[in-house]
Amino acid sequence: MITLNRDAPEALYHQLFNHFREQILSGAMKAGKRLPASRALANELDISRTSVVNSYNALESAGLIVSRERRGLFVVDKLPILYEEWMLSDGDFMPSPASNLSDNQDFPSLISLSVGSLPVDFMPVEAMRRALNAVLDRDAGAALGYEPTEGYKPLRRAIADHLHSRGMNVKTDQVLVTGGCQQAIDLAVQSLVPPNGILLTTDPTYIGLIEIARTRNLELITIPWSDQGIDLTRLEAIIRERHPHLFYLMTTFLNPTGAVLSMQQRRQLLAFAATYHLPILEDGVYDGFDYEDVGLPSLRALDETGMVLYASGFSKTVVPGTRIGYLITNLQLYPRISRVKQAADVCTPGLNQRAMTEFLRSGQLNAHLEVVRHACKHRRDALLTALKHYASGKWTWTTPLGGLYIWVEIPSTGPTALDLLRKATELGVDFAIGASFSPNASWPYHLRLNFSSYTPPILEEGIRRLWMAWSDC
Ligand SMILES: Cc1ncc(COP(=O)(O)O)c(C=O)c1O
Repeated sequence: MITLNRDAPEALYHQLFNHFREQILSGAMKAGKRLPASRALANELDISRTSVVNSYNALESAGLIVSRERRGLFVVDKLPILYEEWMLSDGDFMPSPASNLSDNQDFPSLISLSVGSLPVDFMPVEAMRRALNAVLDRDAGAALGYEPTEGYKPLRRAIADHLHSRGMNVKTDQVLVTGGCQQAIDLAVQSLVPPNGILLTTDPTYIGLIEIARTRNLELITIPWSDQGIDLTRLEAIIRERHPHLFYLMTTFLNPTGAVLSMQQRRQLLAFAATYHLPILEDGVYDGFDYEDVGLPSLRALDETGMVLYASGFSKTVVPGTRIGYLITNLQLYPRISRVKQAADVCTPGLNQRAMTEFLRSGQLNAHLEVVRHACKHRRDALLTALKHYASGKWTWTTPLGGLYIWVEIPSTGPTALDLLRKATELGVDFAIGASFSPNASWPYHLRLNFSSYTPPILEEGIRRLWMAWSDC
């Protein structure tokens, strides 16, 4: 029995998509089961056939059903890996007693907790295949030609709409499509910080920003970000004394710590930006990737001065390999930054831009994100459980509300993170050392652990190896 609510804000096709998704995942609709013909179902439910077709398209893009030529649509034989974890509920993972985990189990020889992205088996392959085919069928050669430097217009529009839904008032003309978020940051830095100029950031900060400062010969100065957030008195003193050209930071889910800047600190930063004419580059690449609702607007959403630039993209939430990112600037700066983009690479590949546009327009982003977040939250909880099981009372760590990392502190009376890494690699596990997220090599006793790449049993084995390495150091 399918019940649809015509008064709900959720589109009918999406309600139908959710209905079938639930039926398939709960096993009520088994592998190989045929879906009703779209015309018959539309008549039965008294809705348009387009709504039914759109919901079937979305199910196909999600890899839950397949089309068999002239025979119709069927539930897939094997669900995508991502959905296997969707079906596990919170708290399902229990660590094994230590003695039950043994080296002869089928674990990878190296469990790499150092990575910074989603695993490849979380990529929306079907959705991308469909989007690419649709673009090539529709646009033919135009999909393979040059695009305007600013980006493919419908994508710029779709990004502006996406950001609107996140509370940001962005005009299409303010969107510059870039080669990933990394290029968005680099272009903003190149355009705003002169040669030998001063770039201000937090400590710790994103490693890619440190690399930009180094390769472009900029002076990188920092303000520590502790458990209490940023020391605003010290920040103001730095701004007054050093006159930085740009302040780069992540306000939500700082990579590596997962920290979130408080509302009060956000407002104070904006006040400094206005008082001292300090441009801020906000990196929002993990925005929207939350496990608990953080509910804080971005600086860009709060900004009334035009001093905040916003860099983000789809690498952390959807696919890194299409290299689609974006920079939101104000209209005065836009021509300068797009000129720097033109000098850098002329344009971002059009085929990828057009495919991403299809993906956004089809409403797949939110459906896909929902499943990916669920799986990642499950993995985060598994890693936390394993840490508690092995290292409770010895190490301390954060419980991130979003993003992909847990920030762990080991005792300063023992090995440094670097010493531990050497030993850990011998035992088949690695991680990112805290010092690499600081131009001052701060955080010698911190580790950044990624939890998105492995299933709970492998994560647990990784922590067991890490604990053994630490105990042996
Ligand atoms: C904070 C932050 N900003 C930017 C990037 C770069 O993202 P992209 O792959 O879209 O260039 C990363 C990637 O790790 C990141 O963690």
